[in-house]
Amino acid sequence: MFFSFDLFISSAILQQKEGNIVKLIRVKDYNDLSKKASEILLKKVKNSQFLTLGLPTGSTPIGLYKLLVQDFLRSYTTYEHVTTFNLDEYIGLKPNHPNSYAYFMNKHLFHHIDIPVNQIFIPSGITENPINQCDEYEEQILSHGGIDLLFLGIGSNGHIGFNEPGTPFTSRTHVVNLDEKTIIDNSRFFKNINDVPKQAITMGLETIMTSKEIILLVSGKSKAEIMKALLDSEPSENLPASILKTHHNVTIIADESSLSLID
Ligand code: PGA
Repeated sequence: MFFSFDLFISSAILQQKEGNIVKLIRVKDYNDLSKKASEILLKKVKNSQFLTLGLPTGSTPIGLYKLLVQDFLRSYTTYEHVTTFNLDEYIGLKPNHPNSYAYFMNKHLFHHIDIPVNQIFIPSGITENPINQCDEYEEQILSHGGIDLLFLGIGSNGHIGFNEPGTPFTSRTHVVNLDEKTIIDNSRFFKNINDVPKQAITMGLETIMTSKEIILLVSGKSKAEIMKALLDSEPSENLPASILKTHHNVTIIADESSLSLID
């Protein structure tokens, strides 16, 4: 059952009818967004005996990861009790390919903190049997008791992970054909748009929704239109991120430019 969505942004809580609450933390800019996200994540890491995190790639979380690395260098916050599951990976790229998400995570976070390598899970882009791997990924998440805290970015087309518009809300980890818009958006990281893989493995929308807590990070003017659409819309498979409105514990951290089209 979907709930209608009442928006009011101030300090701020977006109330949903029927008891669901989506919190919106409005921050000034990207630096403040990264700081807020790092504070939430570090508090969880410090206060948990075991913790399973879900992690995104893309431009948005880079500032967050930078602050975690700084914190590790200064305060030695340990990640020995933390397990991570990444949202997605391109099919066809080896983990040491500079555009793979495995490479991204090592570069921006994992190589700089003390998380044990066997507690890092990222779908493989070069598996012989991607479908089997999707099932295995689901089982691995389950065997860790599910994801406690999942961070997400949002694509300009509303995707979360690589769940493109039209993805069923009931989807689990699966192979996806990337949307034209996603290929164009992500071509900024590649030498040539033709080098952008056309397929990926992604956690599904239902997988994402089984996380106990979700934090969506939204920054920049390029996200203003999708942010408005997200806040205005009823949950719809045409806007994958709108499924989050039916989650019981979701927080959106958004900066002012991403909220510039909201009255
Ligand atoms: P971005 O990507 O952080 O690079 O904007 C987000 C996404 O596509 O999920």
